[in-house]
Amino acid sequence: MPPNPPPARSTGAPRDEPRPIHGVLLGSPEIMTTYIAAFEQVAPQCRLALPDAVTEPESVTFALAWDPGPDDFRAYPNLRLVSSIAAGVNGILASPSLPSDVPLMRIAGESQAQMMAGFVTWHVLWHHRRFGDYLSHQRQRHWERLPKRDAADVRVGLLGAGRMGGAVARALVALDYDLAIYSRSGRNLPAGVEGFTGEAGLERLAARSDILINLLPLTAQTRGILNATLFSRLPAGAVLIHVGRGEHLIEDDLLVALDSGRLSAASLDVFAVEPLPPGHAFWRHERILVTPHDACDSTPSQVAQEVAAALRDLDAGRQPASQVDRQAGY
Ligand SMILES: NC(=O)c1ccc[n+]([C@@H]2O[C@H](COP(=O)([O-])OP(=O)(O)OC[C@H]3O[C@@H](n4cnc5c(N)ncnc54)[C@H](OP(=O)(O)O)[C@@H]3O)[C@@H](O)[C@H]2O)c1
Repeated sequence: MPPNPPPARSTGAPRDEPRPIHGVLLGSPEIMTTYIAAFEQVAPQCRLALPDAVTEPESVTFALAWDPGPDDFRAYPNLRLVSSIAAGVNGILASPSLPSDVPLMRIAGESQAQMMAGFVTWHVLWHHRRFGDYLSHQRQRHWERLPKRDAADVRVGLLGAGRMGGAVARALVALDYDLAIYSRSGRNLPAGVEGFTGEAGLERLAARSDILINLLPLTAQTRGILNATLFSRLPAGAVLIHVGRGEHLIEDDLLVALDSGRLSAASLDVFAVEPLPPGHAFWRHERILVTPHDACDSTPSQVAQEVAAALRDLDAGRQPASQVDRQAGY
């Protein structure tokens, strides 16, 4: 039996159809075009286009951006919102044409933070429970139970207690690690976790970190924070888990710290140059674990949901939930 015929189409737009909201995609077209379909599904009133396809730049009221060019924002005089497609915004803040008076938001949903918590916890366990040694034992068909330490005896230092750091902290506390946290304000720490702030606080946290995890945002204050001075303050044989931003780390200092035994191993997910160049020393270092900036991310549909919610917030006179503090840089 043939299906029922569709209802007759009216000639004009239905009365309750929302007015389209025009957005522009700024950044590498290969990355940015994946968001067009997601917005069509999740927030169909948002019509996204690459700059070449924008016919009326004045009608564009929001921009979705990732590493935009220096002049990319200039063509759009009526922006109400700029959003990153991820948690980081340093690439957007680096564009001189970014208007200073437009709210800038990032994507920092709970599912992304949980994915980060799982990723970092896996690395903590990998190093604490010596899975690298077990892997090489297996290759040698060697059976040996290695000595164990309770999680409560492993001192973990976490740099950053924001969306990502907070989720990591809760996961490590649940596993009973001896956690301490370094942040700017010392706020939002899980109950019972010691907080450190300021330069002296960073020194003290380093001195009690068998495993140091970096989840700071990249700002003028944190660029290069993972350096020889900090490594010299860690207990001998400490481990670094670096999932913040590549520019936090002075890469040569890490190699020296590993060679001297100050650090025994490092898990690295982010790099100053990405993709990591084929000739880079990190690829073949036997005590470095490399992953391709893949600790966690948001799906295009999560991005569309968060941006659509922020546009609704703006319409209602509220600040978007994930608005970035431009002064602080995160
Ligand atoms: N590898 C990946 O796949 C991946 C995925 C997502 C995010 N990330 C990265 O993870 C990092 C954290 O993201 P997030 O969303 O958790 O950031 P966030 O919510 O903005 O939190 C930042 C945290 O860092 C602290 N902080 C900022 N500046 C500081 C300073 N100068 N000294 C000490 N503490 C400082 C803040 O202190 P207050 O609490 O006092 O504000 C806050 O606790 C970012 O670098 C982001 O790019 C990586």
